[in-house]
Amino acid sequence: MLPTWQDSELRWEQIVTPARQRRQRLQTMGVLAAGLAHEIKNPLSTMSLNLQLLEEDFAEPSTPLEQRTQRRARLLLGEVNRLDSIVNDFLTLARGYEVAPTAVDLDLLISGLLSFHEAAHARLGISARSAVSPEARLALADPKLLRLALTNLVVNAQQAMGEDGGELLLETRARDNAVELRVTDTGAGVARETLDKIWQPFFSTKQGGTGLGLPTTRRIVEELGGEIRVVSELGRGTRFILSLPAVPKQLPAAGASEVSEP
Ligand SMILES: Nc1ncnc2c1ncn2[C@@H]1O[C@H](COP(=O)(O)OP(=O)(O)O)[C@@H](O)[C@H]1O
Ligand SMILES: [Mg+2]
Repeated sequence: MLPTWQDSELRWEQIVTPARQRRQRLQTMGVLAAGLAHEIKNPLSTMSLNLQLLEEDFAEPSTPLEQRTQRRARLLLGEVNRLDSIVNDFLTLARGYEVAPTAVDLDLLISGLLSFHEAAHARLGISARSAVSPEARLALADPKLLRLALTNLVVNAQQAMGEDGGELLLETRARDNAVELRVTDTGAGVARETLDKIWQPFFSTKQGGTGLGLPTTRRIVEELGGEIRVVSELGRGTRFILSLPAVPKQLPAAGASEVSEP
C-alpha cells in the first residue's frame, strides 16, 4: 500500500539553506570543478581506449597468466568507465543548466517516462501508475531538464524497492500559482538522521552510488523556479514533492513528445 501522508505530517521536511546562497556557492565551485573534470576526462579516455585494446589482445586467453591479464583488464576498464560517468554527472551538476521554460504537458511527460521504464518495472515487480489532475496538467518548466529530474527520482524509487518490488505513484496537484508533482514509493525509506544528508553531493548509501542524483534534481528544480521537499519513513516509503510554477494563461503547451529518451 502506498503511504498516504497528510500535509500536517510533513514534519520531516527539510529546512535548507536558501536557494540563492546555495546557487552562488555552486557557481564558484562549478567553474573550478568543471575545469578539473575536463582535465580528468582526457586521460580517462586514453586509459579506456588502451584498456579496450588490451582486453581485445587477451580475448582468447590460453594460459593462466593470460586469463589473469584479461580479468584485470576488464576490471580496470569497468572502473575507468565508472569514473568517466561520475565525472560526466558531476560536470552536468557543476556547470548548471541552460533553462528554456515552456508550458510542459505533465501527463505526456509522465506517461512517456513510465513507458520508458515499463520493462524495468515489470522485471522488478513494481506496479507504477500516474494520476495527473486535469487542473495540474501543465507546468512552466524545461521538458528535458524536468525529465532528467524525474528520472533521478524514479531510479532512486526503483532502487529503494529492491528485489521485492512495490508501488510507485507519480501524481500532480494544483496549488495556488504552482503545480505540485509527487513521486511516492513503497521502498525502504530514509532514516530520520539520514534525511538531511541525502541532498549533499556524493552522499550515497548504495554500493557504487554516485550521490549526484538528488543534488542534480534539486538544482534543476530550483533553476526552474521551483522547490523540492521530501517526506519519508523507514520501512514504509518515501515521497518527493516538487513544486513548479504554473503556466500563465496565454502560453501554448509544448508537446513532451519532442523530449528524447534519457
Ligand atoms: N526513494 C528513495 N528511497 C530511499 N532512499 C532514497 C530515495 N531516494 C534517495 N534516497 C537516499 O538518498 C541517497 C542519495 O541519492 P542520490 O543523490 O540519487 O544518489 P545515489 O542514488 O547515487 O545513491 C541514496 O543513496 C539513498 O540513501
Ligand atoms: Mg540516485
